[in-house]
Amino acid sequence: MTEPVPDIHSGVGFLGMANADSDFSSRPSSARIYDALLGGNHNFAADREAAQGLLTIFPLAGDMARANRAFLSRVVHYLLDRGVHQFLDIGSGIPTVGNVHEIAQRRIPDARVVYVDIDPVAVAHSTDILKDNPWAAAIQADMRFPDAVLNHPTVRRLIDLDQPIGLMFVAMLHFVPEDDAYRAVQSLRSALPAGSYLVISHGVSETVADAKEAEVTALYRRTDVSAAHGRTRDQILSFFGDAEIVPPGLVWVHEWPDGGDGDARGMAVVAAVGEI
Ligand SMILES: C[S@@+](CC[C@H](N)C(=O)[O-])C[C@H]1O[C@@H](n2cnc3c(N)ncnc32)[C@H](O)[C@@H]1O
Repeated sequence: MTEPVPDIHSGVGFLGMANADSDFSSRPSSARIYDALLGGNHNFAADREAAQGLLTIFPLAGDMARANRAFLSRVVHYLLDRGVHQFLDIGSGIPTVGNVHEIAQRRIPDARVVYVDIDPVAVAHSTDILKDNPWAAAIQADMRFPDAVLNHPTVRRLIDLDQPIGLMFVAMLHFVPEDDAYRAVQSLRSALPAGSYLVISHGVSETVADAKEAEVTALYRRTDVSAAHGRTRDQILSFFGDAEIVPPGLVWVHEWPDGGDGDARGMAVVAAVGEI
């Protein structure tokens, strides 16, 4: 069956790469802005400028990115403890210290990891890092086309859809517009066998004044993503469908799973994990 074609603003992003005049080094991308926030060096001047703009609107943006990466590490250990040895990391971004495969394969050498990202630079770096790794790979794909993700030959080769899978959307769903996001997550979720987990960290709208939200959206409008907005806690929880949310539920990202000692004021990202 043909998947519906999501709306994407003109000439940008994955689809825009086909345009002869699309110059992705002069157009910031969400992956590279994030890399710049984390102090990485896989970014261009346009990305650093956008990251600086984000920090002006949101001074805690760097702290949030780091808290998010720390969550990613904790959640991979949590899933490994529960027998999950395969990971589909959607919107995986530019590889930085503490990638899913590093954490997982330190404990389970043949743990399988497929990174999925829309950003060609993120995928190129990931592919380079993984070139000698038989159990991990990166693919360029748009999660709004879930069938294309699930049927990708690399996913088929590395991920056994009959064994538990950690399906991860870490700090990425706020870049995906409403209907596309729910439809795609539901479609991917329903392909998972019992014993799998859905992991989401997400920007929450309650912390951001409307004016700031508008500024953030405007800033990301120049990038490759087709949306940039927080959702309410209820909206974020509805991604889980009938998956059972594990304790402590939906909490600030730095508080998952056991409190943490960070200051929640100004934090704008929440996280939860659901068991399928
Ligand atoms: C803020 S980064 C998060 C990276 C990583 N998950 C982490 O937490 O460190 C968001 C990522 O989502 C990717 N992304 C945005 N929209 C996407 C889509 N429709 N399909 C796949 N990836 C997407 C961006 O390219 C970017 O790398």
